[in-house]
Amino acid sequence: MSRFLVAPAQGVAGVVTVPGDKSISHRALMFGAIASGTTRVTGFLEGEDCLATLKAVEALGVQVRRPGSGEVIVEGVGLGGFTAPRDALDMGNAGTAMRLFMGLLSSQPFDSVLVGDESLMRRPMERVAKPLREMGAHIETSEGRPPVRISGGSRLHGIHYSMPVASAQVKSAILLAGLRAEGETTVVEPDVTRDHTERMLQTFGCEVSARAGTVTLRPPARLVAADVAVPGDFSSAAFFIVAACIGAREPFTIRGVGVNPTRTGLLEMLALMGADLRLINHRTCGAEPVADIEVRPAPLKGIRVPERLVPLAIDEFPAFFVAAACADGETVVTGAEELRVKESDRIAVMAQGLTALGIRNEVLPDGLRIEGGRFSAGTVDSRGDHRVAMSFAVASLRADGPIEILDTANVATSFPGFAGLARSAGLGIEERA
Ligand code: S3P
Repeated sequence: MSRFLVAPAQGVAGVVTVPGDKSISHRALMFGAIASGTTRVTGFLEGEDCLATLKAVEALGVQVRRPGSGEVIVEGVGLGGFTAPRDALDMGNAGTAMRLFMGLLSSQPFDSVLVGDESLMRRPMERVAKPLREMGAHIETSEGRPPVRISGGSRLHGIHYSMPVASAQVKSAILLAGLRAEGETTVVEPDVTRDHTERMLQTFGCEVSARAGTVTLRPPARLVAADVAVPGDFSSAAFFIVAACIGAREPFTIRGVGVNPTRTGLLEMLALMGADLRLINHRTCGAEPVADIEVRPAPLKGIRVPERLVPLAIDEFPAFFVAAACADGETVVTGAEELRVKESDRIAVMAQGLTALGIRNEVLPDGLRIEGGRFSAGTVDSRGDHRVAMSFAVASLRADGPIEILDTANVATSFPGFAGLARSAGLGIEERA
């Protein structure tokens, strides 16, 4: 089983560029596949999650070429052009792939089965299956979990759906199903969630109106292929943002990061703690805003995290908990029960890791209370959760001895090359098989 060994480091310095955005890479492949014409994607994340989506679109009869690093050419087959896959579609560790494909496949004339790795096979799928059934789809889950079995030949109709949980994956699955449904589809979100699907639909020529938490889509005759330039993943940048907040010796820069406001809650949370963060060189990458993020050293103080920021930072809590452990005083996160159904139960797994490294904390049903301190040497089990593994590597910047992190192979799902890049920034990280 692969692991990280991380020696305490003096600090981080320099400039880094992180790999492409995972959410946007998945969507670029899916939208390219169902568009009419050729879609060229650049900056594509060549992580295992997005490669699972790539294999799935190929299994559905779509031609995909990869002429160079980060470049993908998708020959779109049109909205009704998928062909039946021979086998079950394996989504690996990727919840986004499974849930968005449920939306895409529920209106196809053929049956399909979706499976994944051990972690994905435990994750809830009824949150997507239920609204899709309301649209007329025939979907079975196994006590709410994968395998997901979709029967072909359903004719879908649009719905007006108020989501009980704030989830971009649920919203996106419904909108993708709505592309081939009869009539309009409207999704109402209880809190704002990432809006990459809405932005990309517009790029591909589909009319969507989005305002005040309500998104409405009118089924288009077709989607028109478009080029997609994928920005750096804010969620990958998060590890370096926190690393710089707790360990920068001088201004530290992360270049070319997607700063869509539905993703950057972490910046607000860290600013409330006293972090010195600046966004510079604002530009756009297709439909998405991009900037360089500059971090200067500053002391952090504990905060109570405003619950409205939770969905805007949903993937960044493992990294944020490490920042909280380095702050002066207590930090409290509530309203974050969704963390329990991510790649691992991130409340429980992070709490165990913090405790193993001498940081006092209290598990709450929907969050965590953390007392700032210093990390001791120790061993942490990431339970195969990529973001947990990378977060504890960053903790080495404030540790009294080496940190060993177990079960780290899944870092490659979202951040291939993490250890090398972290080493170049100053972390004492080594990978062991
Ligand atoms: C994602 C949405 C989020 C996030 C996940 C990616 C997406 O999940 O945690 O990593 O690409 O739509 P939820 O929508 O379930 O919160």
